[in-house]
Order: sequence, then structure tokens, then C-alpha cells
Amino acid sequence: MKILILPDREAAVAACVDLIAQTLTATPDAVLGLATGGTMEPVYAGLLARARAGEVTLNRMTSFNLDEYVGLPPGHPQSYHTYMRERLFGPLGLDPARTHLPRGDASDPIAEAVRYDTAIVAAGGIDLQLLGIGGNGHIGFNEPSSSLASPTRVKTLTRATRAANARFFGPDETVPQFAITMGIATILRSRHAVLLATGGPKAAAVAAMAEGPLSARCPASALQMHPKATIVLDAEAAADLE
Ligand code: F6R
Repeated sequence: MKILILPDREAAVAACVDLIAQTLTATPDAVLGLATGGTMEPVYAGLLARARAGEVTLNRMTSFNLDEYVGLPPGHPQSYHTYMRERLFGPLGLDPARTHLPRGDASDPIAEAVRYDTAIVAAGGIDLQLLGIGGNGHIGFNEPSSSLASPTRVKTLTRATRAANARFFGPDETVPQFAITMGIATILRSRHAVLLATGGPKAAAVAAMAEGPLSARCPASALQMHPKATIVLDAEAAADLE
């Protein structure tokens, strides 16, 4: 696990965008694993700016997002389909056939999860997997107690995660209870995992991930077993490291 500590959020985001851009420059048809959430918003803004400046091209890459809420169709404003379409795929006019997310509205979400893992393998596996981390140590929606050998599957969201994500939903909307998430085994098969964490509220989870025991209580600690994991932090997120 390589840990990069940058002075502030802006520098950490830029370092993360650099890593993605380097992968795409070396391998324009790379397979990227993508994340959503607040931490990733400036990453996609940065990638978009670089693509518009002609410094990187995303037109040939294939992507697989980590997760999607069960029950939300792709057009739902809070779906991760919408998140990605608005921030990256739409502005770049990417071919929807190359940008994959689990279908939250699948009639059989369990079968959809199996199909998704199979599609990742068929695409040749993930070259670079982008990750955020939950305050409870989750990666994707692999909540505490997730098997470290888990495949892509339906996972129940914890109260803490639903409360944290309520900020993206309207006051009269409820955060879905279930998500389809890439499993930890799926994430560990990526050839390079890049986790970005910024801000003080992530400091305890970051320390548990990097310095705590390998444990299902902190699913991100599974990255200790990844042959090539790069953890990009700002000073606040790194504050609890020894
Ligand atoms: C979302 C995802 C989650 C988030 C995590 C952090 O696709 O995979 O693991 O990365 O919940 O979310 P933010 O960045 O909103 O704190």
C-alpha cells in the first residue's frame, strides 16, 4: 500500500486525476472502475477539464462503476447513473455501451449482480479502480461485516451510510435500503486500486484501513492485501495515521 499525503484537498484531487490520466495515456482503451460520492466530484471535474484541454482522452476507455441503489432506475435524479451522466459521461459524449453501472431497477437484482461481475471479467478486468471510503470504512457499498472474499452482490446499507447519503436526497425522499455493489474480491482483482480520501471526517476510517487489523469491521482494510494500492490523502484525512 503506497500512501501519498498531499497538503490539501485540491492537491490530493490533482494527484488522483494524474494517476487516472497516466493510465489512460499509457492505455487509452483501459478499463476503469469508477466511484461516486462527494469526494469524486472534483475528480470528475478535473478529468473533464483535462479532456476538454486535449490532455487526455476518455473516448476509448471502458468503465464499470462500483455500485447503484436497488430500486432506482437510470433516470432517477439520485441514481448513480444520473451522477455519472451529469458529471462525466454526458459532457464528454461517451458511448453508453462503454460505460457500465449495475441496473438498480433490474427485476432480479441478485442475478444482475452476477451478470455485472461476469461483464467485468469479459472486458478483461479492471486496470484502475477508483475508490472513496465511507466514514465506517466501507468501499463501494461493502459495509462493515462484508466478506473480504465477496463478489458483486446486493448489500443492505447501514444506518450510518443511509444517514451520510441523505444529503443527496430531498427532505421527503428516503435513501434506498439496498445497493448492488462490486464485491471486495472484485475490487481486489483490479490491477491498480486508487483510493482518495479528503477531510477530517475520514481520518479514523483511513487509519483503520491502513494501520488497523485486516478485518471485515473495516472493509477498506482489505486493500492491505492488494498488490498495487495507492492511497491519496489530504493532510486532514491523514491526521490519525501514526
Ligand atoms: C460510491 C462509493 C462509496 C463512496 C463513499 C464515500 O460509489 O463507492 O464507497 O466512495 O461512501 O462517499 P463520499 O465521497 O460522499 O464521502
